[in-house]
Amino acid sequence: MTTVGIDAVEIWTGNLKLDLPGTFAPEKGEAPEKYTKGLGLNASSFPDSYEDIVTMGANAAYRLMDRKGLEPEDIGRIDVATESAFDNSKPVSTYIAGCLEQVYENDFHHANKGERKFACIAGTQSLDDAYNWIRAGRNRGRGALVIATDTALYARGDAGEATQGAGAVAMYIAEDPDLVELSADQGYGSADETDFLKPNQQFPSVDGKRSVQVYLARMREALEDYESVAGDVHPDDLAFIPFHTPFPGMVRKAGLLGYRHITRDTAIEDELAEEIGRQPRKEAFDDEEAFRDAVREYMDALKETDRYQEWYAETIDPTLTLSREVGNWYTGSVHIARVSAMKHALENGRDLTGETLLVGSYGSGAQAEIHAETVQENWAEEIEALNIDGQLEARYDLSWEDYEEVHDAHNHDMDVDVEELTTPHEEFVFDGWGRMGERKYRFVE
Ligand code: CAA
Repeated sequence: MTTVGIDAVEIWTGNLKLDLPGTFAPEKGEAPEKYTKGLGLNASSFPDSYEDIVTMGANAAYRLMDRKGLEPEDIGRIDVATESAFDNSKPVSTYIAGCLEQVYENDFHHANKGERKFACIAGTQSLDDAYNWIRAGRNRGRGALVIATDTALYARGDAGEATQGAGAVAMYIAEDPDLVELSADQGYGSADETDFLKPNQQFPSVDGKRSVQVYLARMREALEDYESVAGDVHPDDLAFIPFHTPFPGMVRKAGLLGYRHITRDTAIEDELAEEIGRQPRKEAFDDEEAFRDAVREYMDALKETDRYQEWYAETIDPTLTLSREVGNWYTGSVHIARVSAMKHALENGRDLTGETLLVGSYGSGAQAEIHAETVQENWAEEIEALNIDGQLEARYDLSWEDYEEVHDAHNHDMDVDVEELTTPHEEFVFDGWGRMGERKYRFVE
């Protein structure tokens, strides 16, 4: 059977940057370490006034198509995953196709287009849709363009404001992929939750503390469900675990929980037992509270062991490098975690070919999905072709006054016009409104 997976990836960051310890923390009267150490963030990417989910998505997709030499006829589907959509009917993929048609001779009239919504997990769901479409044999030799694009902005003063971000990830899903093969096995943890939602409003209503607990609970269910089809996961079998990363501190919690789970009943648990005892088992406790206390105590001790810290430094920490500099990209977040890890391997001369990534996606509301990916032999050329470091370096560093103005300019309830802070170059830009309230775009040479 032919393999199906991600053939290529491209990333497009918002052109502005908000320095969290340097600019944000002093305005909030907080210690810079709350951001750098607690949340694990140095900066957020932010959209300039001419950027939005369409421009960033189209720019990532254009870079990808151009680099891979793809033409519109090679693409049979365009799926956009976003939780920042501005239209309840016309999908963002039609706007992005319209942009791309400005720079390609041929059109995308033959391509099936859609928009996926389930908070941040929609990017992974779109990958799954593309995978299923190809596996079903409906692709006629074509691939699918999956674009995860978001302006993850919170209301000014919301606790989530520190975790904002803006950017897009474009992926080409095809047979015989160059980057990773997707596994057929998946595990889900899904429940009706009210942790983060946007009931017909631009900025989210968030129960921040609860959202952290819901993330962990759904992720644990997804792991158990995955193991029920794929067998027990063992730490030695995994090169990296890219998680959905709203902020790196969240992944620190997920990594610890995951490690406890995948080392249970293994030789690793036995070896650790000499130092910190064995993991508490529910059946050994009369009441839930005592069991929970024992688990908390075990986790606190586990976190301090060399064995855990080495595993975390090798398997989880490399997935967080980009996220630390860009914040939360919602639907794109887990996909930049994958790239971060592979980029780390490339920069350290490690050959990942044939190795396994366990990918933990999450969307509020809430659902987690776990699946495995196998790294393909051309992965290094794909990762080497990215220019994300240059893009991050080129971002305009916002002052607090700039930030306030540009946040207002993106607020749908405010009618604020601000000067562009950067000069667009070879990219799509927002170009005003059409007669039916639609957004217009043009390509700037
Ligand atoms: N030095 C070092 N660490 C410090 C510190 C200092 N001076 N000050 C605070 N910290 C630590 C805190 O101890 C805490 O770490 P732990 O959780 O490990 O204890 C961390 O910094 C954050 O501090 P607070 O909890 O006090 O921060 P907060 O209450 O202002 O906000 C938040 C945290 C609730 C997560 C908020 O950022 C938020 O609401 N974010 C949006 C929701 C979100 O991202 N949820 C994540 C799960 S949901 C999801 O993943 C979907 C999605 O993309 C939105």
